[in-house]
Amino acid sequence: MESKGQIISRYKTYHYIENLDKYVGQEVTLRGWVYHKTGKGKLQFIQLRDGTGIVQCVVFKGNVSEEVFENAKDLTQESSVIIKGTVREDPRSPSGFEIDVTDLKVVQLTRDYPITPKEHGDTFLLEHRHLWLRSSRQHAIMRVRAAVVKAIRDFFDGNGFKLMDSPILTPNACEGTTTLFETQYFDLGKAYLSQSGQLYAEASAMALGRVYTFGPVFRAELSKTRKHLTEFWMVEPEMAYFDLEDDMDLAEDLVEYIVQYVLKTCKKELETLERDTTKLEKVKRPFYRMTYTEAVEWLNKNNIPLIRKVGGKEIEEPFPWGEDFGAVQEEAIMEQFDKPCIIHHYPAKVKAFYMKRDPENPELVLAMDMLAPERGGEIIGGSQREDDYDRLLERIKEENLPIEAFQWYLDLRKYGSVPHSGFGLGIERTVKWITGAKHIREVIPFPRMIYRIVP
Ligand code: 4AD
Ligand code: MG
Repeated sequence: MESKGQIISRYKTYHYIENLDKYVGQEVTLRGWVYHKTGKGKLQFIQLRDGTGIVQCVVFKGNVSEEVFENAKDLTQESSVIIKGTVREDPRSPSGFEIDVTDLKVVQLTRDYPITPKEHGDTFLLEHRHLWLRSSRQHAIMRVRAAVVKAIRDFFDGNGFKLMDSPILTPNACEGTTTLFETQYFDLGKAYLSQSGQLYAEASAMALGRVYTFGPVFRAELSKTRKHLTEFWMVEPEMAYFDLEDDMDLAEDLVEYIVQYVLKTCKKELETLERDTTKLEKVKRPFYRMTYTEAVEWLNKNNIPLIRKVGGKEIEEPFPWGEDFGAVQEEAIMEQFDKPCIIHHYPAKVKAFYMKRDPENPELVLAMDMLAPERGGEIIGGSQREDDYDRLLERIKEENLPIEAFQWYLDLRKYGSVPHSGFGLGIERTVKWITGAKHIREVIPFPRMIYRIVP
């Protein structure tokens, strides 16, 4: 990670493992937990973790008091300790340093830590997510996640965008009514957890020009896949006067920036994750682009069928124009690419009510999805928005959405309506792709899925 500064509290100077290069030959005090310990005769080797990294601390009997040596011998996995010692450069150690211990204080001796270095099943680990986060793989993923979020904020803040938070309790749906979480809102009727901050971002963009909203969103998704959560984080830029082309250009710029930032600042983390970064290094503009219609032609030319379940049986048929892509189609299309591909101009019937019709073909909307290579799937969904009052009203009616709840949204098409566009990038999908994590539940601190709300 980039930030290398030490934190100076008013009371103590804290030393951190990630800053040890500044203290070679000097004495430091490290505060952390025992990741692993081995020992033999007069030597004890403690792998100490402090949240910023792991370093080996060597306790030699001759260098410490008898009591300290005995305490070191008794240490167990995840015991909390404060260790004093001298920093020595050691090219053989993964951190590049070792600590020659001079003093050691046990804060708490841990008994029977449930997660041991041996293999554990997924369910067990998920039940112990509050502890699983301490293991080096999860630790590395969380640091990449933090870097992705920082890259996003830096990108927008540095490019003239203003952060405008959207509410989470909302009176209306944004992305279809089938995935809404609903709650009673005092005497005012039903409220819904936001599926997307977009509609509010549109209002914000009409006030501030270029904005982004960034927060948790909720989908009562019935899909139990490696890519779906019921609560996830999304960043959604929205730009007045941007058309679909501008929108796609911005999406490319953002994704290039994120990936290159992570490559630059998270080398150690990606190494811990054993991530082959050769493809990530190629994530530079321009990305690939194709229309939905071209994608369908490609699928049929390459015999990637649509698989339908009819009466318990799976039936394969040529991919029909007008059907939405599933993971099978997305992954097949992306197999040929070493960087992301934007698919644009989708059939109106598979996309949301707020998307603008293609003036050249009313069956299409000015929509785009960005797919990531290496089975990353859809990381971005976006569009140019319908800016005509009558056509938007018509779409709201067609979808049977309650007009009253959308009156404020329709107002935006009444008072100084302008062409505008935006998109949403899923944080977890992005982190999953960049880290190469197998399942999306590994890339959010506390995943929420159909069958899991604890811890
Ligand atoms: O494609 P989606 O549904 O688009 C929107 O919500 C738009 N309102 C965004 C906009 O134009 N402002 O979702 C956007 C992204 C997807 O591309 C995907 O990365 C992620 O959000 N996403 C999910 N991530 C995890 N779990 C789920 N259930 C997700 N659903 C969507
Ligand atoms: Mg989508």
